[in-house]
This record gives sequence, structure tokens and C-alpha cells, in this order.
Amino acid sequence: MRLDDTFMQFLLNHQRRNKRSLNFLILMESIMTAARRIEHAYKSGALQSKLGEANLTNVQGESVMEMDLLAHEIVLHYLKASNQVMEVTSEEVEKEIRINEDGRYIVYFDPIDGSSNVKHSLPVGFLFGICKRDLDKDETYRLRSGNEYIAAGMFLIPSGLFTFALKNSGAWRFIMDETGGYVRPTKINLPEEKKNWELSWNVGNKNYYDNRVQSWLAENENLYNFRYAGSLVVDFHRLLHNGGMFLYPAIKNHKDESKNKINGKLRLLYEASVISFIAKEAGGFAVDEDGNDVLNIMPKRRHQRSALYVGNRELVESIQRKLI
Ligand code: AHG
Ligand code: MN
Ligand code: MN
Repeated sequence: MRLDDTFMQFLLNHQRRNKRSLNFLILMESIMTAARRIEHAYKSGALQSKLGEANLTNVQGESVMEMDLLAHEIVLHYLKASNQVMEVTSEEVEKEIRINEDGRYIVYFDPIDGSSNVKHSLPVGFLFGICKRDLDKDETYRLRSGNEYIAAGMFLIPSGLFTFALKNSGAWRFIMDETGGYVRPTKINLPEEKKNWELSWNVGNKNYYDNRVQSWLAENENLYNFRYAGSLVVDFHRLLHNGGMFLYPAIKNHKDESKNKINGKLRLLYEASVISFIAKEAGGFAVDEDGNDVLNIMPKRRHQRSALYVGNRELVESIQRKLI
């Protein structure tokens, strides 16, 4: 019988080595439980006819799937039960959700990422970023930049894979074993070897990208393979293994004005900052449409969007030179 190291053993060792509290373990246990529940809901969703649209639109005016709402409720339930969380922001709810005034942590999450994949039973994600409250003064409930996250992660559902990054410590991948536990930590670094590098972006939008971006693509797109799954978690998961760059630039001058996205599509708090945090811990880098480090962006609004260029530092810096 093979007895692998579990995620909790890994985290316990990390907290002990760094003389940290165990509160973070309790918080992470609630997130892992939520992920297992979402995984189960997704796998059994087709049988229960739960893979359809909820006939609602969310705060961003996008259509909501039943699975988005279910996953949101699952995450919220377990975060509340942990008693560790002061406030959360979910993609599915416009305002903040205050949970426990004495909680130590703030959590930003996207319960299902890539929900257009749901009805096709293709993989989706669950993204989260964690910050610690201001412990030495009264909490102001301000929004945090990615640089202030202490940890971030993404689950690939239903593949049973989990990528977890800890501030200034690194990024690891875990796999789900036959008992539903996440096990076998493997350190991840974006490969420097260019052989398998890929570019990942929605080709349909190309003509509406800024000229600087189009010019970079003209020079580079034929140098690498191209892959796009339509879920940031799925696309970034590939990238962490193969290397390359994911880009979701601003969309301008679209023939159909309603399709313009002058700040890109991805949401800063629970998509762009989370992925940029993981990328940094895996040796990568991320910038926005002006070439600014995404992790330095101080959010002004809860559901603020940002363009995103993330991946191997060499590629991101190369497009950054065009953007700044
Ligand atoms: P969500 O399902 O949480 O709304 O996120 C979808 C996002 C992201 O996962 C993906 O990279 C991007 O939308 C795809 O957008 P396009 O369909 O415009 O390519
Ligand atoms: Mn998303
Ligand atoms: Mn989502």
C-alpha cells in the first residue's frame, strides 16, 4: 500500500518550520473540503441535470450556470464553518460578505472558472487568494493587491489536481488520491526550456487588440504552439507544465461595441492576481495592459478587471517592452 504525504502534512510542516499559527491550516482544510464537494457536484452534475444555465446574470452581466451558484454556496458554507474568515469576495456576489469580525483572513474566490465549459463536461477551475487582516490595528476592510496575498491556489475540476502557492516559498501541485484526499506535493517551476512553450489566447479577438499587442503577436505567434481551452485555470495549468504565456489583452474598436473590453475580461482580485501570484512563485511574471506588474495593482473596485499577460518571465518581459 502506498501512503503518500497529504496536503495537510505538507502544510503542517511548512507552518512548523516557519513558526506560524495553525489557524491557516483550519482555513485551508475548509477550502480543501469545499473543493472536494465541488468536484463531486461536478462529476454527478450531468446525472442530476445540474450542468445548465440558472437563467440569471451575475454582477458582471454574464450568464450564470447552476454550477456557479452551487459552488459559491459550497465555498461560503465551509469558509463560514472554519470560523477563521473575516470577509470574502466571490465572483457571484456584488458586495463583500462579512463572516466573522474576529477572523484572521480575507478570501477572494471564483467558485467556477470557465463556466462555459460546464455544459460540455469539460474541465473548469476554482480559484482563491488569501490575505491576512491587519492584526495590529482595526481592520479597514480595504481591498488588497496581489503582493499582499499570503497564499493562492487553483483546483482543476474534475481532474483532481490542485496547485498551491505560498508567499516567497514556491508553488506545488497535488493530486487527488482514490480516497479524495490531495496528496504528493511536487514543486513546480515554469520550464526555462523553450521546446514545449505555448501561447494561449482567444484568437477570435486578435483584430481588436491594441496595435502594440498585434505587432508582438505578428513577431512571435509562429514561434510557439498555440492552445486555448477557454478557462484560465485550464490554460494556465498547461502553461505551468509546458511554459509559455497566457494573454487576455484589452479589446478595443470591436465592430460590435458591446464586445469591447477596455480593461480586459479577467477580474483582478480572484483571477488575475491569483494566477499572477502562482506564476511568481513558480518563477514567472505577469503584467497588465500598461506593462505594470499585476501584483502591484491596488484594486479600486471589488470586481475590477485587468488585462493579463502571464507566464515565463522572458516572454512577459518581451511583450512588456512593447506595452510600456
Ligand atoms: P468565468 O467562467 O469565471 O466567468 O471565467 C471565464 C474567463 C476565464 O476563465 C477564461 O480565460 C476567459 O473567461 C475566456 O474568455 P473568452 O471566452 O472571451 O475567451
Ligand atoms: Mn473565472
Ligand atoms: Mn467564475
